[in-house]
Amino acid sequence: MADTLTITDNRTGKTYEVPIKDNAIRATDLRQMKTGEDDQGLMTYDPAFMNTSACRSRITYIDGDKGILEYRGYPIEQLAEHSTYLETAYLIIFGELPTESQLKTWIRDITLHTMLHENIKKLMEGFQYDAHPMGVFLSTVGAFSTFYPDAKKIFDEQSRKKQIHRLIAKVPTIAAYAFRHSIGRPYIYPDNDLSFAGNFLNMLFRMTEPKYAANPVLERALEVLFILHADHEQNCSTTAMRSIGSSHVDPYSAMAGAAAALYGPLHGGANEAVLRMLSEIGSLDNVPGFIKRVKAGEGRLMGFGHRVYKSYDPRAKIIKKTADAVFEVTGRNPLLDIALELERIALQDDYFVSRKLYPNVDFYSGLIYQAMSFPVTMFPVLFAIPRTAGWIAHWEEMLLDPEQKIARPRQVYAGSARRDYVGLDKRK
Ligand code: CMC
Repeated sequence: MADTLTITDNRTGKTYEVPIKDNAIRATDLRQMKTGEDDQGLMTYDPAFMNTSACRSRITYIDGDKGILEYRGYPIEQLAEHSTYLETAYLIIFGELPTESQLKTWIRDITLHTMLHENIKKLMEGFQYDAHPMGVFLSTVGAFSTFYPDAKKIFDEQSRKKQIHRLIAKVPTIAAYAFRHSIGRPYIYPDNDLSFAGNFLNMLFRMTEPKYAANPVLERALEVLFILHADHEQNCSTTAMRSIGSSHVDPYSAMAGAAAALYGPLHGGANEAVLRMLSEIGSLDNVPGFIKRVKAGEGRLMGFGHRVYKSYDPRAKIIKKTADAVFEVTGRNPLLDIALELERIALQDDYFVSRKLYPNVDFYSGLIYQAMSFPVTMFPVLFAIPRTAGWIAHWEEMLLDPEQKIARPRQVYAGSARRDYVGLDKRK
C-alpha cells in the first residue's frame, strides 16, 4: 500500500501524487496545482482549524471518540490519583516523570520564585475594586515582561528555564492577589512551607491566624483539579500561545495573550457561565423549560459539548468523584441537583445524543469551586493557573521545532475588487 494520495484537478485534467505521513498531507503540496501562470496554487480552506494540524507535538494525546486523555503517555486517571500538580507540570514540560532528586530540585526552584516584585503589587492595586480577576491576571502576566527583560533571550536554555520557574511559581500569587484585591482584603505573602495548592489556599483565605492550614480534602481536590486542567493539546489558548510565541516575543507577553483567549465563555470562561446558568435556572422545575429553549436555539447548555470529545470528557468523570469528596466537607452545593437533572435529561435527549454533546470539564468544576468559597469570577483564573504548565510546554516545543516559523495563515479574499478613491463630497 503506497502512502500517497492521488489527486486529479478537474479544472486542468492534471493528476498529482502527494505523500501521506502520519495520516496527513502537507497543505503546501497542493500549491503546485495551478490553472495558469497567475494562479498562486491551490490552498486548503479550514476556518477554526477543524481538520488542520499545525504542529507535531509530543505532549498530550486525546482520543475524543474513546474519551482518552494522556499527558506524555500517562493516562489522566492515573495522574489524578497518584500525582501532584507540580510533578505533573514537570512531566508536561520536561517530558518525563521526575526522579526523587529532580522533583526535590524542581519544588525548591518553584518555591524560590513564589513572591511578586512589590511594584507588581502596586500595579495590581491600581485596578478598580470590582475589576474582573481574569482581567487583572492577564494584564499582570503581560506586565511581567517589563520586570524580566532577560526573558527576551528565548533561545538561551538557562533563561527559558528561569522564566518557566517564575511563571509556574508566580501565577498562584497573582491569582490570590487579584482575589484579595476584589474583596478589599490585604495581600497574603506566600508560605513556602506549604504545598503548591496549600500555599495558594493560604494566600486566598488566611485571615489573622499566624499559620494557615488548609483542609486536606479541599487541598487535594484543588491539586486534582489543577492536574486535570494542566494541558489539553491544541485548544484555543494554547494555539494563541504558540501563535504569539512564534513571533519570538518573550513568554510573558505570549502568555498574556493565551490567558486572554482562555477568558472567553466558550473556553475557560465556560465554568463561570455554567454557574450563572445553574443559578438562573434556579430550581428543578425549570430544567425541562430550559432544555427546550436550548433545543430551540435560544442559548447553549454551558459545560456541554466539546470540539474534540464526542463522548464523556474523561476529566468530567474524575471531577464528579472529586465533587462528592468536597461536598462531604463543605456541604452539598444546592445547584448540584439542577446540574444532575440537566445531565440526566440531556443524555437521553436526541438533540444532545445525535450531536454527541456530553458534559465537559467545566460542567462540575464550578460547583466544586463555589463550594470551596470561590466567587464565579475566579473560575477562569483557577483554570489559568495549572494551564500555565501546558502553555509553557507548547511554547518551548514550538520554539525548538525546526519546522516552525512565524504563524501566518492564508485567506480567501472575498472583498471588493480594486476601485478608485472617492472624495468625501462625492460619497453617497
Ligand atoms: N448546547 C447546545 N447545543 C450545542 C452545544 C451546547 N453546549 N454545543 C454544541 N451545540 C450544537 C450546536 O448548536 C451545533 O448544532 P447544529 O449542528 O444543529 O448547528 C452542534 O451542536 C455542533 O456545535 P458546534 O458549535 O459546531 O461545535 P464546536 O465544536 O464548534 O463547539 C464548543 C465546541 C465547546 C464551543 C461548544 O460545544 C459550546 O459552545 N459548548 C458550551 C461552552 C462550553 O462548555 N465550553 C467549554 C469547553 S471545554 C473547556 C475548554 O477546553 O475550554
